[in-house]
Amino acid sequence: MKLEDMNESDMSCLRGGPELSVVVPTYNERDNVAELVRLLDLALPAIDWEVIFVDDDSSDGTADVIRQMAQTNGRVRCLQRIGRRGLSSACIEGILSSSAPYVAVMDADLQHDERVLPTMLAELKKGDLDIVIGSRYVQGGGIGDWQADRAKMSRFATWLSNIVVHADLKDPMSGLFMVRRTVFMETVRNLSGIGFKILLDLFASAPHRLAFVEIPYSFRARAAGESKLDSAVMWDYLMLLLDKLLGHYVPIRFVSFLIIGCFGVVVHMLVLVAGLKGLNLTFDWAQGIATGVAMTANFVLNNVLTYRDHRLKGWKALRGLITFYAACGLGAVANVGIASAIFERHYEWWLAGIAGIGIGAVWNYAATAVFTWNRKQG
Ligand code: GDD
Ligand code: MN
Repeated sequence: MKLEDMNESDMSCLRGGPELSVVVPTYNERDNVAELVRLLDLALPAIDWEVIFVDDDSSDGTADVIRQMAQTNGRVRCLQRIGRRGLSSACIEGILSSSAPYVAVMDADLQHDERVLPTMLAELKKGDLDIVIGSRYVQGGGIGDWQADRAKMSRFATWLSNIVVHADLKDPMSGLFMVRRTVFMETVRNLSGIGFKILLDLFASAPHRLAFVEIPYSFRARAAGESKLDSAVMWDYLMLLLDKLLGHYVPIRFVSFLIIGCFGVVVHMLVLVAGLKGLNLTFDWAQGIATGVAMTANFVLNNVLTYRDHRLKGWKALRGLITFYAACGLGAVANVGIASAIFERHYEWWLAGIAGIGIGAVWNYAATAVFTWNRKQG
């Protein structure tokens, strides 16, 4: 074969590097990783592949198990991230740490069928496609023994994805796919990297329409360990959709902070009513308690949702709560000061009120980003 006739993968074989990088995000998957490597070995006999596990400092020692495997198997690598969380961002960094011309992403818990990987690679190597997706929702695929609730939720999330993905993709929520590295590199700077849905992010962020096919596979039952899907994951999903819609205009963390702030107002009013009518407190007491409860609720929700990827725990959470009170206390002073100054200049009362709230919200967000959830890295 002449050099100019070679494609990306022929070139990589010539150089001796792997043709396929398989990127696997892990969080507490100690008992699954060895089996996954064994299955990959069986599924990819004729392919030069490598697997990069991206572990977010799992407490069960997953990273140690992977490094131990890597000592005896040159195909295995571990990228351990400390103080960070997130399936999508883990995949992005895993892909960036590798070099093969084709990259697959799959879960560690053996729910994805590794036997479709050779078909996916063959499809991509034909040259016309950008990405191949393992799909549960095309003829021949399935969701295994999922509970009715989970199946309904998945369908609803899939329907919502139409807001940002304009392709006739049957399973945009899939976590199993293979992409051409060049396509990923064109897209990586536009990715939101929020939450669980990296495939959706890719489709919504790519600079051009992606040429794709979906290959059926049947979603298996999780082998060992537990699913990490919880309500925070659903919040992240909404934030991903919002980021794709509004991210060019406002930072999405600010949007999350504002939504939680509005919720805080509701909490405040409920506690105020309960204090006044239920407990017959004086207005000052009821208002004071309502403020405290609402601020605490806001701190907890922001810590769990807005700053989920570097959540404060233990003593750090207590320190965070105190700085949050202090920052929001100052925010309230600024709010009243600005609103009064505007009101005194004979503007409408509601305009003065809104201006005060706006300034207070921006202050609270900025101050708590620096003093409460100050990040050392990233
Ligand atoms: N590094 C890292 N960081 N990995 C994570 C994190 C995280 O914060 N959260 C989850 N993971 C890893 C898990 O260890 C697992 O390997 C994979 O990501 C999927 O997590 P599960 O908790 O098993 O998710 P699921 O079964 O509910 O959903 C998965 O399957 C769906 C169907 O294909 C996800 O991959 C979805 O994206 C996918 O659509
Ligand atoms: Mn799973």
